[in-house]
Amino acid sequence: MRLKSWIACLSAAALISLQAAVPAAAKDRAGGGELKIAAKPAADEKKAEAPKGAVKKAKDRCKDGEPSKVGKYEISKGKNLPASISKPLADGKGDAEKGLGWMAHRRLGNCLACHEITKVLDLAKTKSQIEITDLNGKTSKMPLGTHGHIGPSLDGVADRYTEGELRMLVVNAKKIFPDTIMPAFHRNDGFTNVHPDCDGLAILSAAQVEDVVAFLKTLKE
Ligand code: HEC
Repeated sequence: MRLKSWIACLSAAALISLQAAVPAAAKDRAGGGELKIAAKPAADEKKAEAPKGAVKKAKDRCKDGEPSKVGKYEISKGKNLPASISKPLADGKGDAEKGLGWMAHRRLGNCLACHEITKVLDLAKTKSQIEITDLNGKTSKMPLGTHGHIGPSLDGVADRYTEGELRMLVVNAKKIFPDTIMPAFHRNDGFTNVHPDCDGLAILSAAQVEDVVAFLKTLKE
């Protein structure tokens, strides 16, 4: 009995001190204290950890052809939106069918996770998956019929926006909607905590962006 109450007393004391610690930390942050993120180990520190002569471990993330290069582009004012990229990012015409492939690809565009497209839902009735070969030459089958609704439907997007505005939206939608949850697909720097395998990589290449724009241009009502 005595021992039990002693334990109860001890754990109550621990609980009180724990509770006291939590508001103190919260106060610290509320008081404008900077949220500190542990610094990444310096590059040479990382090297020092690897045993000598070790074979470089193959990437296990971002191995779907994500490019390290992004195209140069100029942003100008659009007709309907504050930003637009009027010139194509790559030579040659975008391929709309491939564009749909990048949009359906779960590890690349993954646009269908957030946007419904009636045309694609209709297509999915006869073709449930699209086969797409990534820039590393790996072919994957991606579902066409499962759409999320976090963003607006993309039906009629080609009537609402110019080609340059659509390009801007795919390259970096944050230039138009600063707080959007839509990822910037053709950007490879300025991130704070990406997986080391993906550091310095964009999601879509210049040519892939053009393929996606070519598909978006088919979305007329
Ligand atoms: C994580 C969710 C998410 C993903 C993934 C995503 N988007 Fe978006 N997208 C949004 C949201 C949300 C908006 C609306 C802008 C806002 O208010 O944030 C938007 C807006 C848009 C618009 C403008 C639509 C309009 O009518 O104004 C286009 C075009 C678009 N996205 C295309 C794409 C394409 C193409 C992809 C894939 C390459 C994609 N999105 C991937 C969330 C997403």
